[in-house]
Amino acid sequence: MRRFDGAAVLVTGGSSGIGLATAQAFLEEGARVAITGRDEKRLRKARADLSALGKAVAIRGDVSKPVDAKRFVAQATRSLGSLDVLVNNAGIYINRPIVELTESEYDRVLDINLKGAWLCTKYVLPGMLERGRGAIVNVASDSGLVGTAGSSAYCASKGGMVLLTMAVALEVAGRGVRVNAVCPGEVDTPMLWAEAEGSGKGDAYYEELFAAIPMKRAAKPEEVAAAILFLASDEAGFMTGAAMSVDGGSTAH
Ligand SMILES: NC(=O)c1ccc[n+]([C@@H]2O[C@H](COP(=O)([O-])OP(=O)(O)OC[C@H]3O[C@@H](n4cnc5c(N)ncnc54)[C@H](O)[C@@H]3O)[C@@H](O)[C@H]2O)c1
Repeated sequence: MRRFDGAAVLVTGGSSGIGLATAQAFLEEGARVAITGRDEKRLRKARADLSALGKAVAIRGDVSKPVDAKRFVAQATRSLGSLDVLVNNAGIYINRPIVELTESEYDRVLDINLKGAWLCTKYVLPGMLERGRGAIVNVASDSGLVGTAGSSAYCASKGGMVLLTMAVALEVAGRGVRVNAVCPGEVDTPMLWAEAEGSGKGDAYYEELFAAIPMKRAAKPEEVAAAILFLASDEAGFMTGAAMSVDGGSTAH
């Protein structure tokens, strides 16, 4: 008996990085999985890879658009049956001083990272509450717990996500649905690689970054996925409204 045998799981932003590792881990534990993403080619490749492990469907769309978020939930429910788990993972990162960041960039970060999670939660909850069963895991960040210079919009979005987690957890507590967040530090994914490339520092970027992390390395996406699966599982049955750090000690001070 695997931990998620027969469960139906929706992972937003599931075509790369943490989302892809999470979809893979759920499939390995017996779940059926729907992933969402924006890029058709990447989505198709991810779906083909995931299908080797079990039932996987891919849904294209933009999580920040209400019609798309609603369709993610409807289409995933139609393909897999009632949803047991939602992982709000889709996100973007922009690192630039506040005086240089444009208003539209701020809006984009907040719309995708925070409003996208709010929308998917809003649309998935009625089904979960009706069945009296479900788990939602929000992929926040250590930047949702402490400030990071140059990340005003990102920190605002992830800090908002931590409190969104707590507020919704309280709203549905005692009705069979748990809502928790993971707060990863640096993770070895395309998001981090893009940041390294943009810095123009080459290997020195990673050396400086890792030197500042107590465990002196980034997380593997699988290590974040493991925390997500734990929070979604019955083993975390008394956890709701929690923001769990997976950051190699970065916020342990
Ligand atoms: N990599 C890190 O160091 C790190 C650290 C802390 C938190 N996180 C968070 O983890 C999550 C996953 O990021 P990742 O590191 O795997 O990076 P990633 O870039 O590999 O994954 C992000 C995913 O989100 C999807 N996405 C972005 N905008 C979208 C939109 N508008 N609609 C639908 N999907 C969209 C992308 O297609 C991609 O699949 C993000 O929320 C990110 O903020 C990452």
